[in-house]
Amino acid sequence: MENFSYYTPTRVVFGRAAEEQTGELVKAQGCSKVLLHYGGGSAERSGLLGRIRQSLDQAGVSYVSLGGVVPNPRLSLVYEGIDLCRREGVDFLLAVGGGSVIDSAKAIGYGVADGGEVWELYEKKRRAKGCLPIGTVLTISAAGSEMSNSSVITNEDGWLKRGYNDDISRPKFAVMNPELTMTLPKYQTASGCVDIMMHTMERYFNQSGNMELTDGISEHLIRTVMKNARILMDDPDNYEARAEVMWAGSLSHNGLTGCGTDGGDWASHQLEHELGGMFDVAHGAGLAAVWGSWARYVMDARPERFAQFAVNVMGAEPGADDTETALRGIQAMESFYRAVGMPVCVKDMGIEMTEAQMRELAEKCSHFGKRTIGCVKKLDQEDMYQIYRNARD
Ligand code: NZQ
Ligand code: ZN
Repeated sequence: MENFSYYTPTRVVFGRAAEEQTGELVKAQGCSKVLLHYGGGSAERSGLLGRIRQSLDQAGVSYVSLGGVVPNPRLSLVYEGIDLCRREGVDFLLAVGGGSVIDSAKAIGYGVADGGEVWELYEKKRRAKGCLPIGTVLTISAAGSEMSNSSVITNEDGWLKRGYNDDISRPKFAVMNPELTMTLPKYQTASGCVDIMMHTMERYFNQSGNMELTDGISEHLIRTVMKNARILMDDPDNYEARAEVMWAGSLSHNGLTGCGTDGGDWASHQLEHELGGMFDVAHGAGLAAVWGSWARYVMDARPERFAQFAVNVMGAEPGADDTETALRGIQAMESFYRAVGMPVCVKDMGIEMTEAQMRELAEKCSHFGKRTIGCVKKLDQEDMYQIYRNARD
């Protein structure tokens, strides 16, 4: 087991009607003005935003609003938020939505407290000097941003999608009522489940030695999400299934399933971020579209690990050797993706990638040839191109 530091400062308020506590949770932060940040309309339509406003009013919290966050959240709205917060003297951010809204709030929080050019953080040119405190009311189980240290923003200038990780952005609290996710379209539910599984799978595929406990937590988490994702495809109002998936979403990305590992692989995420930047696909769907191609490309570097995954997670029968077992596991995962309406290649998302686009994706993903990704197998620009090529159709 590797040395590790596990830091999860987020208070989780979980269950039916949890959102009614939002006003009091914000008030307890001792702030003077709040930015209520949200997305493109679902939270307004469901009545959630109305209930949140009421809860803030009842607690005597004053706030300004900024909606309009889109999936793959944009840098231009982040700038708008920073200006608004400065003008209004905002000192607390309340994100009502999914990963996109929360990540946008984190970027605004950096921009206000740090004072410098926020995109430089995402370009990894320097570290942030501060971040405004953030609270969240989660409406989709997926990104895990409600407990994570991560934020992913898309810069429209060049359509670059970049992440920045910093513990100072971990939310102070996360309000999680599984019922709030019942209005999600099936595709978003499934895409979210893939993302949750992938946050643990990225950590699971590593170069570390023994991690019995972390492996057990990880394997069970992934199996739990698969089981309940299948239930939700037929029964979207199933509270217990929504609750299992929602809690898994937070535990999958708050660091727990990385304890004792070397940090994991993360190549699939890096490959997907470029797809999100170029084609604006749903993040989890993009992950499903590249994962099989990535797995087949790298599995010979750790066939025994892929075989363990096949047997313990996918329930595959062991084959003649680890390679055969590993391949069975990859196929079983792709069958699962199909069963919940997720793609197993980019073409399944209705996108016909051209040769030039695949070259451009690899160029951007390698930061123009300046970095490699992944730890199971280190991938350079040419490897990235091959994985996109194999994921095309
Ligand atoms: O904008 P609205 O109208 O709310 O619609 C959203 C959006 O279209 C809709 N939605 C959300 N809750 C709903 C709902 N529709 C009906 N009922 C509800 N209860 O769902 C759509 C997707 O929302 P989004 O916030 O984009 O989803 P998700 O949570 O998957 O976030 C995706 C973003 O997070 C990033 C991704 O790259 C992507 O940009 N990630 C962030 C991470 C982090 N901060 O730790 C880690 C992840 O790996 C990921 O990269
Ligand atoms: Zn993700």
